[in-house]
Amino acid sequence: MRLNSPKLNIIYKACMKSAKSLIRDFGEIEKLQVSSKGPGDFVSSADKRTEKIIIDELLKAHPDYGILSEEAGEINKNNKDNRWIIDPIDGTTNFLNGIPHFAISIGYEEDNEIKCGIIFDPIKNELFFADKGNGAFLNNSRIRVSKKKNLEDSLLVTGGPKFSSKIKEKILKEYSDVSLEINAPIRKFGSAALDISYVACGRFDGYWQRELNYWDIAAGIIILKESGGFIEHFNKDDLNPIKRNIIASNDNIHKNLVGLIKKNIE
Ligand code: IPD
Ligand code: CA
Ligand code: CA
Repeated sequence: MRLNSPKLNIIYKACMKSAKSLIRDFGEIEKLQVSSKGPGDFVSSADKRTEKIIIDELLKAHPDYGILSEEAGEINKNNKDNRWIIDPIDGTTNFLNGIPHFAISIGYEEDNEIKCGIIFDPIKNELFFADKGNGAFLNNSRIRVSKKKNLEDSLLVTGGPKFSSKIKEKILKEYSDVSLEINAPIRKFGSAALDISYVACGRFDGYWQRELNYWDIAAGIIILKESGGFIEHFNKDDLNPIKRNIIASNDNIHKNLVGLIKKNIE
């Protein structure tokens, strides 16, 4: 595996260490699903356990680096020049229901730009990673976005709306607008980090989603870019830079997909 940058190596170590505990925890889920209490509390503790292992490893390597992580929030807040962006489990609902489709996502940001990152699916043993200027990989193979030319023949993926969303109707309208333009039904797999990785390796041709958080896609940004894909952030909220709306795809269908989504932008 070509993890030849020092930062990627640090992420890799943290990722592998936490994955061991995450896989063990996933093994417990099945048992808990049939218990009357259900797996809810257990999942939130699995989330925190995974996160703690990652953060401890990263801080061991660079005690002064900033961290933005979904559960723990911000650490070393003043260091905005070097930051790790972490989602310990992306795809929690899948995890909670014993569905083997979730990932650990860790990105490294320098001067407001993601420089490298890893998204690891511990169940399928798929490691997506990229380092700026050095391409994107899935395990030992270089990955590229698909070459699909027409939007109508594309396989797309999306997610949401969340239960708490205040723009559910808008999101559903967008979904139906896009559905009507393409032949294959749109997928919803429930892990933004894996959705974007799947675009990077050409399994999906495009992905869009509103109301994401930065940690859902931070590592995905560099993986997609290094695989030759395009990512567009739209309707940015300057007051809340963690919130993201994104469109990610290969360059052939990008313009048309953006056109469809932007029809709904006020
Ligand atoms: C969620 C997943 C899901 C997306 C949600 C995210 P979580 O992250 O990425 O695919 O639709 O918007 O919040 O909660 O599983 O870390
Ligand atoms: Ca997430
Ligand atoms: Ca999460």
